[in-house]
Amino acid sequence: MIHKNYGGVFPALAKRAHEEKIDYVVNEALRRASIVLGHFKNRHTQIYNLQFTIYKQFQISNFKFQIDAIAVTQGPGLAIALEVGIKKAKQLSVDASLPLVAINHLEGHIYSCLGENSKGLPHREIIFPALCLIVSGGHTELVLMHEHQTYEVIGATLDDACGEALDKAAKILKLGYPGGPVIEKLAEQAFQNFKFQISRFDREARRANFKFSTPLKEKTNLSFSYSGLKTQLLYTVEKMTDQDLGKNLTSLAFSFQDACFEQIIRKTSQAIKVYQPKTLVCGGGVIANKYLRRCLRRLAKKNNLPILFPPYKNLITDNAAMIGIAAYYKMRRKEFVKDLGKLDREPRMEL
Ligand code: KG4
Ligand code: ZN
Repeated sequence: MIHKNYGGVFPALAKRAHEEKIDYVVNEALRRASIVLGHFKNRHTQIYNLQFTIYKQFQISNFKFQIDAIAVTQGPGLAIALEVGIKKAKQLSVDASLPLVAINHLEGHIYSCLGENSKGLPHREIIFPALCLIVSGGHTELVLMHEHQTYEVIGATLDDACGEALDKAAKILKLGYPGGPVIEKLAEQAFQNFKFQISRFDREARRANFKFSTPLKEKTNLSFSYSGLKTQLLYTVEKMTDQDLGKNLTSLAFSFQDACFEQIIRKTSQAIKVYQPKTLVCGGGVIANKYLRRCLRRLAKKNNLPILFPPYKNLITDNAAMIGIAAYYKMRRKEFVKDLGKLDREPRMEL
């Protein structure tokens, strides 16, 4: 919300907001989960005091001791925001004598598909090798996952990410930030109109109103490119009067969104043919888009491939739970941070 007026994340504001809110967010999460940090065996130490203070402060009745480790995002992302999280995680790890697990944000998006509710449902497993598709505001990547925590990036964007393109498009269309959800809504209105005119999946016909190019057509190329699409949209809109823009808004949103997703489906399809994965795992904020999920489901069905999406809406756009899920799998392999002092943010961290 605080970034809405800036049409994107504004770094100085992000830093301040992170610093101001981190203690509250951690305490509130513990309170809502009725969980207290630390181990019961440490009752005679300072840690017990910490537990007891929190216990009393929040009047937690079910005094549970369930936290085994602290997980933190090491990167990629905005350096100043990562710093705030890492500092807090180190402090919690020391105060509560809990090991620390460092997680790659993209790993979090992949593992968001394995999220379970308090009853352990839905229980899922990734069958390897898996093809992971990550579509977010900062990344558009195809990753081959050979086993847990073993990744090979086989395709990435050469310029803008898909979510970034949707955000920039929304700015060009004066629709605010973030762009993905509002473009989805407008596109859905256009889709409802098209539905009566043509068959449901006649993609070319639906795109006919506004034609965008099809970047990186070569079949062997798994890279993505979005900056050209954004420039085409800008030129198209610049030629329009406000009245024309108003009249064509839903159609423009649909055509642009469809051009963005056409690339994703085409590249994912190519990757399936070449790498013959056993599961398709999809994560990242743009996966919140119902139309994209429909297209991906169709692709998976065509290839007889099980497909995994994050099972709950809250696990799709950036969230802390997905970092916890990834950490669980890392913890099982005992991959803890060995030297807290040396753990530093990696804004450009790769998988
Ligand atoms: O994963 P995420 O929350 O943050 C990053 O890691 O970047 O993804 C944010 C992106 C934004 O670009 C936002 O516009 C896009 O996800 N997004 C959507 C939808 N909801 C969020 N894009 C398309 N349709 C949506 N419903
Ligand atoms: Zn993300």
